[in-house]
Amino acid sequence: MVIDGFFGDTGKGKVISYIALKDRLDVCARGGAGPNAGHTVVYKGRTYKLRMVPSGFVYEGCRLYIGAGVAVNPEVFLREVEETGVRGRIGVDRQCAIIEQRHIEADRRGHLKGKIGTTGSGTGPCNSERAMRTVKLAREVPELQEFLADVALEVNEAIDAGKKVLIEGTQGTFLSLYHGTYPYVTSKDVTASAACSDVGVGPTRVDEVIMVLKAYVTRVGAGPLPGELPWEEAQRRGWAEVATVTGRRRRAAPFNFDLARRAAMLNGATQIALTKLDVLYPECSGARGYDELPEEAKRFVSEVEEKVGVPVTLIGTGAEALDMVDLRAEKGLL
Ligand code: IMP
Ligand code: MG
Repeated sequence: MVIDGFFGDTGKGKVISYIALKDRLDVCARGGAGPNAGHTVVYKGRTYKLRMVPSGFVYEGCRLYIGAGVAVNPEVFLREVEETGVRGRIGVDRQCAIIEQRHIEADRRGHLKGKIGTTGSGTGPCNSERAMRTVKLAREVPELQEFLADVALEVNEAIDAGKKVLIEGTQGTFLSLYHGTYPYVTSKDVTASAACSDVGVGPTRVDEVIMVLKAYVTRVGAGPLPGELPWEEAQRRGWAEVATVTGRRRRAAPFNFDLARRAAMLNGATQIALTKLDVLYPECSGARGYDELPEEAKRFVSEVEEKVGVPVTLIGTGAEALDMVDLRAEKGLL
């Protein structure tokens, strides 16, 4: 499983696309809230911004799923299926909740838009209707018929058969409805346990929980961000990012060890993927071997490992899927 230890946007898309290619994943199943999440994948010079299709799509042998816990916007889903060319190898659970126009309108007009700064994707209103048991499900949507699947059954069967299965979490630990900075959170829990439940896989079946942490922290929308820097300072440091889904500025702060430690606890993290190290240390750019990293960068990696208490096994050194230092084999975690 791959989940996010901060507020989202740590680079899950990049980490998952790397693992899919490198490990030749058989299955990649997306959990999470819905199309409020944007995962960026850069592969062979092309940039994909995915809100529904799992990031493992880059490996052509990988079967893709969207778990029952996820809210689906059929229009966004069908557009991405065409863009990525995955028709024939993607399944949507029959019980995914469907986002309709009225949910999007409610999200854009509602009290949460101004107060929390939601993505306006309709995910929150859809999930609230789901709790009221008035939401439409994927099995009722004609355009989705060819994609419908029993995702829980198919993913569990793949695990039984010894296949390589990855569950893709979305958002970030501190956007969790239960464990995050309430009320400045998304509309459901998004920790590792929730991602299991989204797909329909029991916690005893998960071998590794890879928690993605970016070398600095960003947050879009309202809510606390300890150590937040002014936008001009974020720009100066190269940390000034723009959101994938909404195009809003991401607020930025230095790496936060307290949050990282708590996220490791909440998710039962067994490995850390540390991304965007090349932004902190430009000499790292494109490195694929640990020895290529400057001493200062290695010290930061060790500090993360020691203070969070979880091994750093993957280190992101650029946007391209394969720009990664992979220490999993060396650390006996592959
Ligand atoms: P909602 O999920 O659209 O209801 O938005 C609630 C809060 O979560 C807002 O602060 C959003 O900016 C934030 N949020 C939701 N999904 C993501 C994500 O994938 N990345 C970063 N922030 C997110
Ligand atoms: Mg994102």
